[in-house]
Amino acid sequence: MDFIKEREERTKWFMHDRFGMFIHWGLYAIPGRGEWVQSDEQITQKTYEKYFDEWDPARCDMKEWARLAKRAGMKYAVLTTKHHEGFCLWDSAYTDFKSTKTACGRDLVREFVDAFRAEGLKIGFYHSLLDWHHPDYPAYGDMYHPDRENEEYKGKQHDFDRYLTYLHNQVRELLTDYGKIDLLWFDFSYEGHMGEDWKGTELVHMVRQLQPDIIMNGRLEANGESYGSVMTDEPNIFSGDFACPEMIIPPYGLRTPSGRAIPWEACFTLNNNWGYTPNDKHYKNAGQIIKKLVECTSKNGNMIVNISPTAKGEIPKQQAEILDAVGDWMRENGESIYGCHMSDFEKPEWGRYTQNGNKLYAHITEESIGAIALPGVKGRLKKARRLSDGYEMLMLTPWVAKEFPDCEFINYGTPDCFSFTVDETPDTVIELELKEE
Ligand code: GLC
Repeated sequence: MDFIKEREERTKWFMHDRFGMFIHWGLYAIPGRGEWVQSDEQITQKTYEKYFDEWDPARCDMKEWARLAKRAGMKYAVLTTKHHEGFCLWDSAYTDFKSTKTACGRDLVREFVDAFRAEGLKIGFYHSLLDWHHPDYPAYGDMYHPDRENEEYKGKQHDFDRYLTYLHNQVRELLTDYGKIDLLWFDFSYEGHMGEDWKGTELVHMVRQLQPDIIMNGRLEANGESYGSVMTDEPNIFSGDFACPEMIIPPYGLRTPSGRAIPWEACFTLNNNWGYTPNDKHYKNAGQIIKKLVECTSKNGNMIVNISPTAKGEIPKQQAEILDAVGDWMRENGESIYGCHMSDFEKPEWGRYTQNGNKLYAHITEESIGAIALPGVKGRLKKARRLSDGYEMLMLTPWVAKEFPDCEFINYGTPDCFSFTVDETPDTVIELELKEE
């Protein structure tokens, strides 16, 4: 089987499930100014270590996190096992900079895996390729390292190969000690640190050997800016199985030059930060998340939404509330997301279509006055029901629509032209059953 075929097989569950939870959690939850705080403010390692001495998320109950993800309708979750700061949430044999050596003494990766698996979610590990704590990661003169301008580090010897051994060893640990891992999310590559610079071929072979079914993102050779060779018809070994656009939904979905669909997952924050940032109150609302999830699905992509737990180990109330509201909608309308994909029909004016076989889902996001025109489905309509409650939508062309004979119309239960939608939900889904062509 060629790589693209294998990729299609591997990513089947992923492209079916559509909706995941991202969790950014680490020492940076204490300063609460985002997960890049150490780099942004050029905090030296010595100073940063005070957060390590304090780390004790005593109120963390991963079972609660997992239940929230499930209620929200999320089907997989990806936890930062280690972010760029280098702090490890598991009991790694290769460092002391880990949660089990803090006051908390807990293997938080283990707790995550157990709790999310118990709720039936698939398990993903985010793992930072960068490491601002490891002595053999280039510091002075690096593009991002917190000590990039720290004169004390000028000319300091480091052995990058030794760092790579550390990186590979830790990935091996994560993929050996925690059972079946479904997804690996590397982050990220940049100039001089890309593909083979990470001993990428060796790394990919090891990953696939340990977890033959795992899917990987493409950031062993890519970043948020460009997605790497996954975008081509001849992806290389670093390409991973899916592209990961960050804070953007690709305007037309993603295809290779020859037109093959590329699996992708757009990642989004709930406010404007990945790591816990209590002063950032710029929250998206549930309606936006729902509509963007629908948009991703309608363009053959996934969406992963981030939560940023506090240093005490709790999910900020506002974040939980948004996800619960998304969950209310998903419970009634999830069928229009899971297993759905880009529709055969063109994007209508009042919203979007998603489709699964002969089920066409009309996502009405714009209020209507009078009957709703369904462009493109003339003669194909068998039945129309509101998905949330099974309510019958009449398939009648009202008397005022005589001039538009090429359209099919649905009506909110009144056979005249006086029906309308009200904005009770951000997205009213009508399930349209199509006749075979
Ligand atoms: C970025 C950032 C990072 C975040 C990630 C999520 O590349 O470095 O902080 O974890 O994207 O997509």
